[in-house]
Amino acid sequence: MPSLRLGDTIPNFKANTTQGSMDFYTYQEKSWVIIFSHPADFTPVCTTELGRIAVHKEEFDKRNVKLLAHSCDKLKSHVDWVNDIKSYCRDIPGDFPYPIIADETRELAVKLDMIDQTNKDDEDRALTVRALYVIDPVHKLRLSMQYPASTGRNVDEMLRVVDSLQLVDKIPQIVTPANWVPGEKVMIVPEVSDAEAESLFPGAIDKISMPSGISYVRTTTEY
Ligand code: BEZ
Repeated sequence: MPSLRLGDTIPNFKANTTQGSMDFYTYQEKSWVIIFSHPADFTPVCTTELGRIAVHKEEFDKRNVKLLAHSCDKLKSHVDWVNDIKSYCRDIPGDFPYPIIADETRELAVKLDMIDQTNKDDEDRALTVRALYVIDPVHKLRLSMQYPASTGRNVDEMLRVVDSLQLVDKIPQIVTPANWVPGEKVMIVPEVSDAEAESLFPGAIDKISMPSGISYVRTTTEY
């Protein structure tokens, strides 16, 4: 059974999509990609997810992120479903803005570790989970979220984690705390000495004293 871990290289693959045949690495070019799978076409939660992600396409564009949906149904089914999604989410501007992979054989779902382990060997009942992979421009898996069929994902969280990943790539001496959004204070990586931190963020570091006496909580808003 394949398993995808953070830091793994996402293997290249070919796929049929609602925007024609695709070679994944060619589609990716030098962008980030979020690939996200769904249990099935014509299901209510999936309809809202694909719709809300489409509405926010411009936000992903601003971050150099390409979107790629995955579902195990046939291409014709995807095309008909997209009509429903557009009718339900009336605020999607223009044509449906990203491709949906038609993975009828589930081959890609298995390769990318997207199959729920319940009923995994029963072709008719095995479900694809809501797997979501944030892949960086050199094809590395940087973040993974898995939700069950019952629970729709949060588009703001998708954007927020991309903001965090891209920021820490730019400034490796920082990390982003719980519930962080851009503009809020970030934290200095413990391995960075006080002297190095001071030279990076002169006069802008808040050092929090802790009962343990260990000074590992240092924050700055000047990044
Ligand atoms: C849904 O997307 O609504 C859904 C998908 C599979 C099972 C149950 C619900």
